Amino acid sequence: MFLPLIRARRSIRRFTPQPVAPEAIARLAEAALRAPSSRGLNPWEFVFVEDAARLQRLAQAKPHGASFLAKAPLGVAVCADPQRCDVWVEDCAIAVTYIQLAAQAEGLGSCWIQIRRRQHAGGAPAADHVRTVLELPGHLEVEALIAIGHPAEHLPPHPPERLPRNRLHRDVYGTPLTVDLE
Ligand SMILES: Cc1cc2nc3c(=O)[nH]c(=O)nc-3n(C[C@H](O)[C@H](O)[C@H](O)COP(=O)(O)O)c2cc1C
Repeated sequence: MFLPLIRARRSIRRFTPQPVAPEAIARLAEAALRAPSSRGLNPWEFVFVEDAARLQRLAQAKPHGASFLAKAPLGVAVCADPQRCDVWVEDCAIAVTYIQLAAQAEGLGSCWIQIRRRQHAGGAPAADHVRTVLELPGHLEVEALIAIGHPAEHLPPHPPERLPRNRLHRDVYGTPLTVDLE
């Protein structure tokens, strides 16, 4: 089941207005909490946002690559307390991936919106904008937002011949690992 799921996954940035069912949101939330984290410290916090006005404001977190969040029925902010874990970035990235794959399994589309190390239009950190909109406590950093909803666009899977198989090595760098890809 897993490979068909990831073969079909693409970043979806256009959504129908249909809300995401509460049962689906619950499963996405469970996926987030089941993500592995370094030493099991679970440094993350997840804010599930359905409020249209707040989604519109989040969509302005940075000038490029976030505007489509305004028309998504659901956004998830993935945040963490860096004091709780030195590798919180990795922990958050895994959690984002879990949420995105859970969304895919629900027939939903999603797209990662990078916030960490990105700037708001005025030059301040994009994370500060997200912190204000979501009333986050000051000690939380923001890794990413995820736009989620029922897809209003269909993107084909990446064809196997386009996968960068030259990045695969056997035993030592430079010796190709040859595999059949579907
Ligand atoms: C770490 C990371 C950050 C990303 N940031 C953004 C972003 O800010 N805005 C956006 O529209 N897409 C973003 N994406 C989505 C990528 O652009 C997308 O995954 C890539 O182009 C490959 O397309 P695919 O996901 O359809 O395979 C991000 C993806 C990753 C993994």
